[in-house]
Amino acid sequence: MKPDVLAIGPAFALLPKVMDELSRSFAVHHVRDTPAAIDADLSRRIRALATEANRGAKRELLTALPNLEIVSLFGVGLELVDVGALRERKLPLTNTPGVVGREVADLAIGMMLASTRQIVFADRFVREGKWKRGPLALGRSVHGKTMGIVGLGEIGRAIAQRASAFGMHVAYHGPRRKPDAPYVYVADLVALARQSDILMVACKGGPETRHLVSTAVIAALGPEGTLINVARGSVVDEAALIAALKGGVLGFAALDVFENSPDINAEFFTLRNVILQPHQGSAARETREMMGLQMVENLRAHFAGRPLPSPVK
Ligand code: 8YV
Repeated sequence: MKPDVLAIGPAFALLPKVMDELSRSFAVHHVRDTPAAIDADLSRRIRALATEANRGAKRELLTALPNLEIVSLFGVGLELVDVGALRERKLPLTNTPGVVGREVADLAIGMMLASTRQIVFADRFVREGKWKRGPLALGRSVHGKTMGIVGLGEIGRAIAQRASAFGMHVAYHGPRRKPDAPYVYVADLVALARQSDILMVACKGGPETRHLVSTAVIAALGPEGTLINVARGSVVDEAALIAALKGGVLGFAALDVFENSPDINAEFFTLRNVILQPHQGSAARETREMMGLQMVENLRAHFAGRPLPSPVK
């Protein structure tokens, strides 16, 4: 008999191919969002949870599943998973590293070029017929500039590699120096912001990093600086960011994540010095499919007694 799996996620996480693979090996009970309550009989049958990173697995849900054996996450961010509750029950957790990092890094670089070379504004400039009245004001080059990276994990490293290929100097900040990384470590984030032309936020979310990019960090980046966030909205003090963008304290921002998405602060819509993206870092069809299959493979490995392909340590 196929083990029962509760799958929580929207269509982009459970693409038809992912759903087919999941259904080949499991009895799938699919909901789009975390359910407020689960039928008592079903909750006892569920042995695995496949859930999207932005839905996570809160303690309440985990408690409602007494026979749960494993949680397999679609995505990498763990801040919405109650890791403590899993540890108490000694339940394994897996996620989908590897493919996410490079895809998010590609978008981060795209957002950097879209900012410095004004790609979004230039498109509007042409559409609105302004080109006929004269050329677009000049943009900025990234070559020889300094990129500061907040968080040199898988995503941060992939961004650093790409920035190096663009002839940029790379420095980074995080809780500790990474001895194998060929980039300059800056222990103080304000100091890193001061020396950066572009500050890339690529660290994990959650309480430890909440508002790490503070008023002081934003001011240190300065009126010529650009802040790019592909991590989590919570890492940046959004009220401070909006005030700085409005007041010319910060030059530019490009954001894929927000403190309250998708219902983001409407003040952003009034600002011309910001590019807004709908949290689409990993949103390439190939990558989302690989993430989904990785999520399924972790579950299969667990039930076959094989080592988990990508456990969270
Ligand atoms: C996705 C992410 O947006 O991996 C993560 O933690 O935030 C992104 O890759 C998300 O998982 C899509 O469901």
